Amino acid sequence: MASATAQSDLLKYGQYVNKGLGRSLDGILTKGEGSWITMDDGRRLLDFSCGIGVTNLGHCHPKISGAAAEQCMKVVHSQCSIAFHEPYLELIKKILPFMPHPSLDSFFFWNSGSEVIEGAIKIARVTTGRQNIIAMQGGYHGRTYGAMAVTKSKTIYSEGVHPLMPGVYTLPFPYWHQMNLPSSTDPAELSRLCLAQLDLLLSQQTAPRDTAAILLEPVLGEGGYVPAPPEFLRGLREVCDREGILLIADEIQCGYGRTGRMFAVEESGVRPDIMTIAKGLANGFPLSGIITRREYTDKLKPGSMGGTYAGNAVACAAACAVADVFKNENILDNVNARSVELFSALNALRNDPVISKYILDVRGKGLMVAVEFASPVGTGPYDSFVDKTAPRDLAKRIAARCQKKGLFILTTSVYEVIRFIPALNITKEEMAEGCRIFKEAVGEVVHEG
Ligand SMILES: Cc1ncc(COP(=O)(O)O)c(C=O)c1O
Repeated sequence: MASATAQSDLLKYGQYVNKGLGRSLDGILTKGEGSWITMDDGRRLLDFSCGIGVTNLGHCHPKISGAAAEQCMKVVHSQCSIAFHEPYLELIKKILPFMPHPSLDSFFFWNSGSEVIEGAIKIARVTTGRQNIIAMQGGYHGRTYGAMAVTKSKTIYSEGVHPLMPGVYTLPFPYWHQMNLPSSTDPAELSRLCLAQLDLLLSQQTAPRDTAAILLEPVLGEGGYVPAPPEFLRGLREVCDREGILLIADEIQCGYGRTGRMFAVEESGVRPDIMTIAKGLANGFPLSGIITRREYTDKLKPGSMGGTYAGNAVACAAACAVADVFKNENILDNVNARSVELFSALNALRNDPVISKYILDVRGKGLMVAVEFASPVGTGPYDSFVDKTAPRDLAKRIAARCQKKGLFILTTSVYEVIRFIPALNITKEEMAEGCRIFKEAVGEVVHEG
């Protein structure tokens, strides 16, 4: 139980917190341990959110928290423009072998995902001498100005604050719902349709000589947990090679083991020119990275990259420990084993005669998985998948019911989607418990109508 002081502070001072901040859990989160979180009123919840894909090796992993604590007593801050610290270089040594392609050999560490998106755009512009960026419909890249401009998942992030960074063009992403096509549509066909739109975009709106980069999440995150088909990624690579455009893979949410491979692009064999990482990189310590080619960053003027807290020593020490845990605890094997169990539970629900008619899709890779439910209103009258018989707000209500039953799980996207982001080292028993609660919650909410 939290102290009475904590509870009275919440009552007294909670009102002073900026109302622009949304919150999914009432009360104060007082403890995190592995896949479990505890609230001040004693509630203990199985955490299928990992703080939105961050504490991927569980809350307060002793090796990671221990490494950070140890670093705290050596050096906390050296300022990256003043001097290297040991964990900075150690981290490069540890993660170089993880890279999906040997050409990715230049590293810059920052604090947040949004910052590295800004930096990736900057590097693409400087390297190519071109300005425009093509981003994906449904993509999410952050809340700072440049990142907001390339974010196309929901209007809430930029509503009322335009104009944003100019020179951004939007390409349809091969997601059946956004394209108003049945969920059974062959991903190769969805990819072909989107790549045809890319040809048009480059002929009608942004000429290749003005286009610096194509930016995408290899698995749409905020946009609904939709993996890009390998054909699509390969098609983008071909266009980039032909036209001298850089391919930026935002692996901030889908990277670092989340999909069962170290990076989501690996499945397609596609080499990104720039890759952005964050979230799971330091398991909760603020750290992000831009990884690209030395031949690009060797052209940058010293001082053009930087930031007060960029590549903080404690965060880098935690990230070194994360890399060790990945290797020593066979994390990717666990992701793939638990993924099979999760998909099998969700596909069983999809075959349940009462529930199946309200499940439009079960999708994802590894432990980045989503269930999309039907909606009686959809995104508007032209949404082909509106189902007037479906219960309203299914995703939100199911997530709330799960919470009551001890499972914390998040919704995502403009559709009725629930996303599963459990810890990558979740146990078989914890996964079974999460699936059991989810099934029960879906059954109850559907029954209530
Ligand atoms: C794919 C992706 N890119 C960028 C960001 C922005 O990261 P941050 O919130 O650390 O600025 C996020 C955050 O959720 C993300 O999921």
